Amino acid sequence: MASTEATNAREATGSALGYGAAVTATAGTEAAARAAGTLAQVDPEVSNAIVGEATRLRETIQLIPSENYPSLAVMEATGSVLTTKYAEGYPEFRYYQGCTWVNVVEDLARKRACALFGADHANVQPHSGSSANMGVYFAALQLGDTVMGMELNAGGHLTHGSPVNFSSKLYHFVTYGVAPQTERIDYDQVAALAKEHHPKMIVVGSSAYPRIFDWTRFREIADSVGALLLADMAHISGLVAGGAHPSPVPYADYASTSTHKTLRGPRGGMVLCRQQYAEALDKAIMPGMQGGPLEHVIAAKAVMLHEAAQPDFRDYAHAVVDNAKVLADTLLSERLTLVSGGTDNHLLLVRLPVDGPSGRQTAQALERAGLVVNANTVPGETKGPVRTSGIRLGTPATTTFGFGPDEFREIGHMVAAVVRDIRNRTLLSQTATRVKELCATVEARRRAREATRQHPAHVPVMA
Ligand SMILES: Cc1ncc(COP(=O)(O)O)c(C=O)c1O
Repeated sequence: MASTEATNAREATGSALGYGAAVTATAGTEAAARAAGTLAQVDPEVSNAIVGEATRLRETIQLIPSENYPSLAVMEATGSVLTTKYAEGYPEFRYYQGCTWVNVVEDLARKRACALFGADHANVQPHSGSSANMGVYFAALQLGDTVMGMELNAGGHLTHGSPVNFSSKLYHFVTYGVAPQTERIDYDQVAALAKEHHPKMIVVGSSAYPRIFDWTRFREIADSVGALLLADMAHISGLVAGGAHPSPVPYADYASTSTHKTLRGPRGGMVLCRQQYAEALDKAIMPGMQGGPLEHVIAAKAVMLHEAAQPDFRDYAHAVVDNAKVLADTLLSERLTLVSGGTDNHLLLVRLPVDGPSGRQTAQALERAGLVVNANTVPGETKGPVRTSGIRLGTPATTTFGFGPDEFREIGHMVAAVVRDIRNRTLLSQTATRVKELCATVEARRRAREATRQHPAHVPVMA
């Protein structure tokens, strides 16, 4: 990139990312901020990397189902002066003075979380989805207790009892999977395992399960053995908020989530629970496992919750699911194999031929073609968690970017062509060119739509 072009790109991206606003807020005046220096002046290496990432986000198609584009408003809060404040404790009681404004922000986030999901209590301090789960375990379990969670190969998360994770080192995890024939949760198997092992808690949630969870059934199973129910809705919380997936909140004792996936917030976590567990949960998170909360991120979570309560967000959540169906149908029409035969939510899992390239090799080829997916294990995995026999695709980020059904059909055909011929360099580079073109067209269409609205609900950060 020529240097003037690079400077312009940096400036445009800098203001889009909101760090201009953050510096201004810290220094008090815009003139002072200019004197203090922009990120590009202070640290060109980091600044260039940010510009590079912003460009990648605009010119390639993000199909990783756990990612999304947060809004400018979310980014501005994340980059705000609130990062300055130490605020150990909660708005009712802080160990530090000077918490007037961070209390406002944290109260807003908690109230909005409860209102959006219909929960009794919310803790918005967990630094990530994994920390949110840790907080629930610390609140509800004793070391060594038996817990049931979904198998990793079937889509369970590391914190659901993976051998390499703290969860299996501190608790005795028993895992349930999917039925080999249907590749869907076998509720009878879950019920039988619960009867056999009498878990103190059943964890329901997944990183790669493309189907709807039957919360009523899980509640019945938990009740049949006196277990607590934790709904880990990290992947689907945005769909739940937008009415595109049934809510676990009326059924679960605890519901945990990350905030940066379908919810489109900042990187972080959150836990909702019934009133009777509120005190134990808050104590488990602070002082149990965290120190000072990230109040700038909590402010961004509050903004995210406000955005997710708008009517537009319901349209978004339903569009995510509709687009995933279009993508699934296109891949099926191209004779690719989808785990469980399709999708009901935002993600799909392609099972690759056993004697062909691994998921990892396929994901690498797709990246060269501008199509960003991740390698993923599939039920009955034989190649292991690094090579894998599958790739995982999703529609949350692409839908935010502005891609619609027609584009998803084209994306499906492009993905299938690459999957069938990963070593064809000409195909990869031609696809990358077409992807860049498609991104530019879709971005221009999205910008034109945004320009006609008085208050756009969600302006993705690379706008
Ligand atoms: C089901 C599930 N739970 C928890 C997490 C953990 O979230 P984080 O990466 O924020 O720790 C994830 C992340 O992918 C997830 O898919």
